Amino acid sequence: MGVLTVGKIKAKLSASLLILFASLLVGNTALANKPNVEARNEVFAKDHADQYDSWRATSESNKLGGGLDEYPDMVILWAGYPFAKDYKKARGHFYAITDVRETLRTAAPMKDTDGPLPMACWSCKSPDVARLIDEGGEDKYFEGMWSRGGAQIVNPIGCADCHDTASKDFAEGKPALYMSRPYTARALEVIGKPFDKASHLDQQSMVCSNCHVEYHFDGKNKAVKFPWDKGMTVEKMEEYYDNIAFSDWTHLLSKTPMLKAQHPEYETWSQGIHGKNNVTCIDCHMPKVQNAEGKLYTDHKIGNPFNRFNDTCASCHTQTKEQLQDIVATRKEAVRELKKKTEAQLVHAHFEAKAAWDAGATEEEMKPILMDIRHAQWRWDYAIASHGIHMHAPEVGLKILGTALDKAADARTKLARLLATKGITHEIALPDLSTKANAQKALGMDMQKLESDKQEFLKTRVAEWDANAKKEERLLSK
Ligand code: HEC
Ligand code: HEC
Ligand code: HEC
Ligand code: HEC
Repeated sequence: MGVLTVGKIKAKLSASLLILFASLLVGNTALANKPNVEARNEVFAKDHADQYDSWRATSESNKLGGGLDEYPDMVILWAGYPFAKDYKKARGHFYAITDVRETLRTAAPMKDTDGPLPMACWSCKSPDVARLIDEGGEDKYFEGMWSRGGAQIVNPIGCADCHDTASKDFAEGKPALYMSRPYTARALEVIGKPFDKASHLDQQSMVCSNCHVEYHFDGKNKAVKFPWDKGMTVEKMEEYYDNIAFSDWTHLLSKTPMLKAQHPEYETWSQGIHGKNNVTCIDCHMPKVQNAEGKLYTDHKIGNPFNRFNDTCASCHTQTKEQLQDIVATRKEAVRELKKKTEAQLVHAHFEAKAAWDAGATEEEMKPILMDIRHAQWRWDYAIASHGIHMHAPEVGLKILGTALDKAADARTKLARLLATKGITHEIALPDLSTKANAQKALGMDMQKLESDKQEFLKTRVAEWDANAKKEERLLSK
């Protein structure tokens, strides 16, 4: 048996170190070529075909409409804010990029520095957002106007919004759910439910909370922040916003410092009967189903769970589809009725407040009235912008709308008294608000110009964004 001398050991060591070093180098180049966040959904079409195909089928939910066309009163409620220009119902995830480009809310910014909206408006539209934050950090991502992100943010909501696409687990076909947005991770910590320590069931709903939540744009950089510091109920968020004297805009007619609710589905779901029993978003919106070979996979066609009744509701309930659909439809109608009543009261309140200002009311006199209007509309918005609230938490929705109606009535009682002191005792007449176009005309909005500018923007700027992204392979055609 030979004995290894120190010299031999050294030689062996340096040889193996060399091999180790070389393999590290190879490993590193492989890593350098592989992005941490793969935003191009098509890359996964082959290896995860069932998930990819069902994800792509969200394109079948393609109907646009509803919104302002159905409820012209909302034009008045949002007077002076981009939502008065355009607001439609949601459709499939597949359309997120198309819809944010085409909505009149984002207007027609021809240069990177043009407004009106900040970068934050991309945040719930694309896995490219996760990619950009991963590459350059949050501050760099949020900097500047929405227009700046157009050539980079091109893939609709997809795999890397919910999955750690760089992980070995994901490559092997496991879920590898992760937090794609650091601001969501922070908000979950604030409510004492950090993502990494959460149960698998909790994580299933948390991935949706990246986007289906209430948030506001905070600070100089207009970064996304969730108002959950005091809690997730409508009252706790209201308190949070009042304490920091936050407002999204000043109402054009009533001059109220307004709040615009986004879409607090995660918050309202958690307060409803299913959320309280930890029936997750996935149980209803992404059931496990079988492919042609009998293999179980998660159906990624997120849409209306009634379309897959046997795999969703029926996995826990014994009632028929018709029975459950009937219950949900009745609740939807109840919510709709209260929603419309609240809207009508708020429209009056905004016009009456304008009449009071015009009659010489002082800030002091108006302050308590504007606070009522602010709270009433915030509550109305929290309830109705929580799409599906009639299903997720109907009693919460109805209660909130009840308090909204009450506060709107308070505002109007105070306004009637104030107007009387200014010698105005007749009813304040409303303009013709029978259609969206009439309501927009009543506010003096030039819709034709907005629309023609938008067409030009889509034909030139957006076409350039796509061409650029294709050339640089950020966007793959399929
Ligand atoms: C909105 C979030 C979301 C998006 C977008 C998404 N997934 Fe999933 N995915 C999930 C959830 C939730 C599960 C189920 C996790 C579990 O079982 O706990 C899942 C499961 C999976 C699994 C594990 C196997 C299975 O079927 O359960 C794979 C693989 C997968 N997804 C691939 C993809 C691919 C590929 C894309 C893009 C084309 C994609 N996912 C887009 C949320 C998402
Ligand atoms: C990256 C942000 C993001 C994530 C993550 C996300 N969504 Fe969405 N979701 C959206 C946006 C934006 C829309 C509206 C798209 C449009 O209308 O263009 C939408 C639309 C929907 C719709 C309406 C679909 C239709 O056909 O009408 C449902 C239902 C939905 N999402 C459920 C979920 C569930 C459940 C999850 C979690 C598994 C989830 N979403 C995760 C952003 C997101
Ligand atoms: C118990 C089942 C169930 C759970 C849990 C559930 N949903 Fe829903 N959701 C539904 C049903 C059913 C509808 C459609 C109601 C209808 O037909 O009017 C719906 C509607 C929606 C809509 C509105 C779609 C539209 O186009 O208007 C969104 C968005 C949504 N859900 C997101 C979520 C998110 C996010 C979660 C979890 C935080 C969640 N849902 C949890 C059953 C559920
Ligand atoms: C994973 C299991 C599960 C799924 C899936 C599920 N539910 Fe439920 N559901 C529950 C539980 C648990 C309760 C509470 C039961 C109780 O407290 O007695 C409940 C209660 C209800 C109730 C009665 C409570 C109320 O709101 O008045 C209705 C209605 C209901 N579910 C409808 C639906 C519909 C519609 C779907 C499909 C879109 C669905 N559920 C999917 C588990 C589920």
